[in-house]
Amino acid sequence: MTSLARTEPPPEVGHVRSRAPVAGGRVDPDAATALALLNCAVRELCAPEQQVRVADGHLMARLPRVGVTLRARLRRPPLMSPRLAGPIEERRGGWTAVDWRRLADLIAGELELTTGTVNPEFAAQVAASRDAMELIGRRRRAGDADPFLASEQSLVAGHRFHPSPKARQGADWPAYAPELGARFPLRWLAVRADAVVEEGDVSVLDRLGPPVRDGYRVLPAHPWQLDLLRPESDAIVDLGPYGPEAVPTSSVRTVYVPDAFLKFSLDVRITNCVRKNAWYELSGAVALTRALRPVFDELACALLAEPGYRTVSVGGTRLREGLGVIVREGVRGLPGTPLLAAAIADPDGAGPAAVSRLLGDGAAPERVLAWWDAYVGHVVPPVLHAYLRHGVVLEPHLQNVLIAVDDEGTPVRAVFRDLEGTKLLHRPWESFLADLPGPVASALTYDPERGWNRVVYCLFVNHLAEVAATLADHHPSMEPALWRVVRRHVVRCAGDTPADTDGAARLRALLAGVPLPAKANLRTRWARDPDRQAAYVPVPNPLAEDLA
Ligand SMILES: Nc1ncnc2c1ncn2[C@@H]1O[C@H](COP(=O)(O)OP(=O)(O)OP(=O)(O)O)[C@@H](O)[C@H]1O
Ligand SMILES: [Mg+2]
Repeated sequence: MTSLARTEPPPEVGHVRSRAPVAGGRVDPDAATALALLNCAVRELCAPEQQVRVADGHLMARLPRVGVTLRARLRRPPLMSPRLAGPIEERRGGWTAVDWRRLADLIAGELELTTGTVNPEFAAQVAASRDAMELIGRRRRAGDADPFLASEQSLVAGHRFHPSPKARQGADWPAYAPELGARFPLRWLAVRADAVVEEGDVSVLDRLGPPVRDGYRVLPAHPWQLDLLRPESDAIVDLGPYGPEAVPTSSVRTVYVPDAFLKFSLDVRITNCVRKNAWYELSGAVALTRALRPVFDELACALLAEPGYRTVSVGGTRLREGLGVIVREGVRGLPGTPLLAAAIADPDGAGPAAVSRLLGDGAAPERVLAWWDAYVGHVVPPVLHAYLRHGVVLEPHLQNVLIAVDDEGTPVRAVFRDLEGTKLLHRPWESFLADLPGPVASALTYDPERGWNRVVYCLFVNHLAEVAATLADHHPSMEPALWRVVRRHVVRCAGDTPADTDGAARLRALLAGVPLPAKANLRTRWARDPDRQAAYVPVPNPLAEDLA
């Protein structure tokens, strides 16, 4: 890991380090925005109504209520979600190119007619995301020298199935944007001891923070958050910026300091949610860490646990949640070099996490299959066993998983993080949950059906399908073979699961090819629903024997 030097006196808050002008992973913001919109429309509006067909190397997709047919180039025959490429065209007599603005209009029209509701914010969110991508493209510099941090800061286009993947509220975000290589010292507060609330192990905060007088404890704050929150209380003293530079990770609000992550409230909307640590989530993270330690001892993977939090008791919920910081374990003890899975899946990815770099240029098919077998073998069994054997619902989407690779670039360990999306099933955890305060317990409980949907979506649709698709961009004829590898690992998990259990039946359905659930980000944004209530739509399941 890069060692981040202590800076005293600290440099200006929020400065963006300038580096050599090598902008890996160039992305055209107009094209990327249009493609993300079309991906969402095909998945959530056209396919569920059987309005999609393949013709002449193109995917034709009709928006049924506005009665408009679109098409885009199809890079190869689709197994799950079609891999599309521009130009995107609309049938008007002949074919006419459509840009992201027109596409956003058409999709908004379709959503109005489909749902009977309006969303006056939608167009602005799409435009804000597009503008953010453009600014990132203009100001981006070479990635961090540390491969892990470079991967965290490399997601220029972001989520491929989100209508506004880079939307961030307000104008201040560039100073804190991971994609711009931001680093900044944290702001530190001294909080009177009687106004501190904390649980678990937060010793890293005391180690990193400035010395404070007796009767006070340090509390770090994200500078953006502090500007928005302006906490006023006689129990809180602002000590200003201090200490090592923090590096924002791909979630923006979680930062890396050596060697831990700190997850802050920002109270800013980033893609789906206004990012805030609710008080019951602070407590829930620490409780989950307690519950998950023995579970992960039995799984062949790593967990970045969240052993503690600290916040204030003054200023009501606003400050208690607004200033709450969760401590997450760092990455130094991991074998190999950790890389963010989303960076590996990024088809425009450059730098240390690019699949061409990990596999070696022009890798032979056997190398690709062996690499993928290692990848899937590290990711799939722990996620399925966590659910099937332990009643633990992980959220292994591309941004919540790190893949540690050895010197040859081969995966040697999967690392799971983000306890906010990690849930427990009621049955095996009944007595554990009963000992927690009601709101804490209910926020971290899922029913089995929703939990399974979440696992299957995150693991297969959000995560593995995207990495497989990026591998197949380099080796187009291999996609069916890649899915056969996934199938083999699921079959093995099924073999380890007692046949008469619900879990085994779920796996049999998966292997028989029942459609997979895909999170409907477009519909969820349109409805302005919280992420927790997100709708799902079915997508083809490439695990079925005849397909794979
Ligand atoms: N394929 C993807 N799936 C999910 N999120 C993605 C993906 N690609 C990029 N992202 C981005 O990653 C972020 C994931 O948010 P998530 O809710 O997991 O993070 P968080 O809880 O705020 O922070 P942390 O992950 O550090 O706990 C979002 O900003 C999302 O847009
Ligand atoms: Mg996350």
